[in-house]
Amino acid sequence: MPGAKISALGCYVPPGVLTNPDLEKMVETSNEWILERTGIVERHIAAPDVATSDMAVEAARVALTQRGIDAAEVEVVIVCTVTPDMFFPSTACLVQDRLGAKGAWGFDLIAACSGFIYGLTVGSQLVMSGAHKKVLVIGADTMSRIIDYTDRGTCILFGDGAGAMLIEPAEPGEGYVGALNEIDGSGGEYLKMPAGGSRMPATAQTVADRLHFVKQDGGQVFKFAVRKMYETCKTLLDTHGLTAKDVKLLIPHQANRRIITATAERLGMNCDQVVINIERYGNTTAATIPLATRDAIESGRLKKGDLVLFAAVGAGFTIGATLWRWSY
Ligand SMILES: CC(C)(COP(=O)(O)OP(=O)(O)OC[C@H]1O[C@@H](n2cnc3c(N)ncnc32)[C@H](O)[C@@H]1OP(=O)(O)O)[C@@H](O)C(=O)NCCC(=O)NCCS
Repeated sequence: MPGAKISALGCYVPPGVLTNPDLEKMVETSNEWILERTGIVERHIAAPDVATSDMAVEAARVALTQRGIDAAEVEVVIVCTVTPDMFFPSTACLVQDRLGAKGAWGFDLIAACSGFIYGLTVGSQLVMSGAHKKVLVIGADTMSRIIDYTDRGTCILFGDGAGAMLIEPAEPGEGYVGALNEIDGSGGEYLKMPAGGSRMPATAQTVADRLHFVKQDGGQVFKFAVRKMYETCKTLLDTHGLTAKDVKLLIPHQANRRIITATAERLGMNCDQVVINIERYGNTTAATIPLATRDAIESGRLKKGDLVLFAAVGAGFTIGATLWRWSY
């Protein structure tokens, strides 16, 4: 069975920035509160005419340019998102067409903040099974379209962005090491967008009741995330006979700085082992992991041969962690 490696990475964030002082003018909050409780300083917000597929295409182009290949060589496009341009056609179809990935098939993957982790698992399995040689996994979310900017409990947290990784066959000793994914649907009530699906289709009333926005019980999500991020990482490492000391970098989903530092502390990792860039982007849902990986590479913290642990918890609840031996 061939291995699978991440051979290229591309990211895109829209130029518009929403700062904490901007939010102070919109809801009853303060820069100090947001910084202390979340670690976020600013987030990027897409212009009104920009949708998720637009950011996904930009990120994918960067990855393909870095790898020096034509889009026609891509065999599968997986778009991880909870903010598709529309329910159907899938955002993967829109991206495939715009990119010119002529021979590719693909689909959207809905796993909220764990989307990119699940995408890496699915993409690597498609390569390791021998079925495909070039799988593009894209995490892209325009969270600003489903955030209620009158709800101070959620509007301070989220931003927009996209990231893409190309997965290809690997040589022994590089690339994919393992993954552990889980769902706990009993937590579905704590983080959701209630209306717009078949359970509660859009009506004038659902719009008036603001049910097409993210609703969250922040405390419940926080507690679950802190516990499961740690447990999942620990179990995955144990399964492979590894300890936190073997990991060069933990690249976690960026939901709240306190969730990340609590996870790292429980794993016994020091700050040099953890990537945090939430201050600049907020929570971009499926895009946080590639954005944080890009920052780790650009700052020289992630190099060929390093063992990297990606981990996330998201709405659902969805949970995932995956280990890779970095390949470039
Ligand atoms: C949302 C979150 C930042 C709130 O932080 P917290 O420390 O848990 O704060 P609480 O919810 O306990 O609220 C504490 C107080 O701050 C208030 N508060 C909430 N948002 C506020 C804001 N933006 N500014 C000022 N005060 C705020 C609350 O109303 C509450 O006031 P009260 O005690 O008078 O009721 C935090 O719970 C969190 O990050 N949860 C996880 C969210 C997440 O990760 N979601 C995505 C999952 S991938």
